[in-house]
Amino acid sequence: MDDRFAPKREDHFSFGLWTVGWQGRDPFGDATRAPLDPVVSVHRLSELGAWGVTFHDDDLIPFGAGDAERETVIKRFRAALDETGMVVEMMTTNLFTHPVFKEGAFTANDRSVRRYALRKTLRNIDLAAELGAQTYVAWGGREGAESDAGKDVRAALDRMKEAIDTLCAYVLDRGYPMRFAIEPKPNEPRGDILLPTIGHALAFINELEHPDMVGLNPEVGHETMAGLNVVHGYAQAMWSGKLFHIDLNGQHGLKYDQDLRFGAADVKSAFFLVDLLESAGYDGPKHFDFKPLRAEDAEGVWVSAAACMRTYLILEAKAKAWRADPEVRQALADAGVPDLSRPTLGAGETLADFLGDRSAYEDFDAEAAGNRAVNIERLDQLALDHIFGVR
Ligand code: GCO
Ligand code: MN
Ligand code: MN
Repeated sequence: MDDRFAPKREDHFSFGLWTVGWQGRDPFGDATRAPLDPVVSVHRLSELGAWGVTFHDDDLIPFGAGDAERETVIKRFRAALDETGMVVEMMTTNLFTHPVFKEGAFTANDRSVRRYALRKTLRNIDLAAELGAQTYVAWGGREGAESDAGKDVRAALDRMKEAIDTLCAYVLDRGYPMRFAIEPKPNEPRGDILLPTIGHALAFINELEHPDMVGLNPEVGHETMAGLNVVHGYAQAMWSGKLFHIDLNGQHGLKYDQDLRFGAADVKSAFFLVDLLESAGYDGPKHFDFKPLRAEDAEGVWVSAAACMRTYLILEAKAKAWRADPEVRQALADAGVPDLSRPTLGAGETLADFLGDRSAYEDFDAEAAGNRAVNIERLDQLALDHIFGVR
């Protein structure tokens, strides 16, 4: 294999323990793979060239484990990190598997469940700080409803705000260098999930007590499930300074959450996403949240994980080649793409100046402008030529 595409630590690739550790259990079938020891995952991912891992509390420490068991598990895990040099860059809470969360966690109608969910999270935030995780993800898988009768959505948003405000207050009080990242998803496992898209989450963050501590962890598949343009969503999160973390994977259209390996579905969108991340200066972890196909065996898991990184690096090389191609530069100019960065009003132009500029309106030839060439098709085909590898 061409080792131009061999991942290196500096690429900052990371994987959720729950991704490679997924046993293939789905609503229709039992597990197809044996449980995977997180220590083994750390070693295997490190050998493949990854830089970090992420996890939910319960991915590492079995739900309900006592203090002694918890300590033993953490010690073993830490030893694997020390041996490999792998980092824990992000952590999160499992607020969705146990039946206690069947009606929600931070926004359950039952107040005692909300208090339990918050305490479970605070406990794991202490571990996240100990392990050096700088991002804490909040994915509200069970925060939602199937029946509009059973959930007061405005009250639920009040409780969600209260939860995030409380988490921020805790992190500030403890002095942890940690930020929160909300992960939107439109549905699954709930019929409808609160904060279903990047846009909903951005608006919510503005209502928080500490908006600067809270950003997003958008997932490729989740925006696709909502029928939205993934690249536009990530770009808007970046524009708002909120692209704190990312979940890269693949999804074919409006279906159940497929969590395919990165690039396995919409290659063109994956190309433009990598182009955005690399050209707009995203410098956070490149984190994969995917599920190796249920049909794969234990070794197929590592093939799938390695492929996520390889695909990213191939697309990165292709995106750079596309940007450097003189014909592409010319085509971009012909399509007027760089002109959009020029402010619409002139420097120092007042409203009076603008209203006085007859060329802007009275003398403007809208008919001629309506007939102008925009030259997008050629540009788009050049992108495809680069993706196909024929340039
Ligand atoms: C999904 C989600 C989850 C979350 C993870 C982090 O596929 O529905 O991506 O995998 O990312 O649980 O909390
Ligand atoms: Mn998903
Ligand atoms: Mn995710």
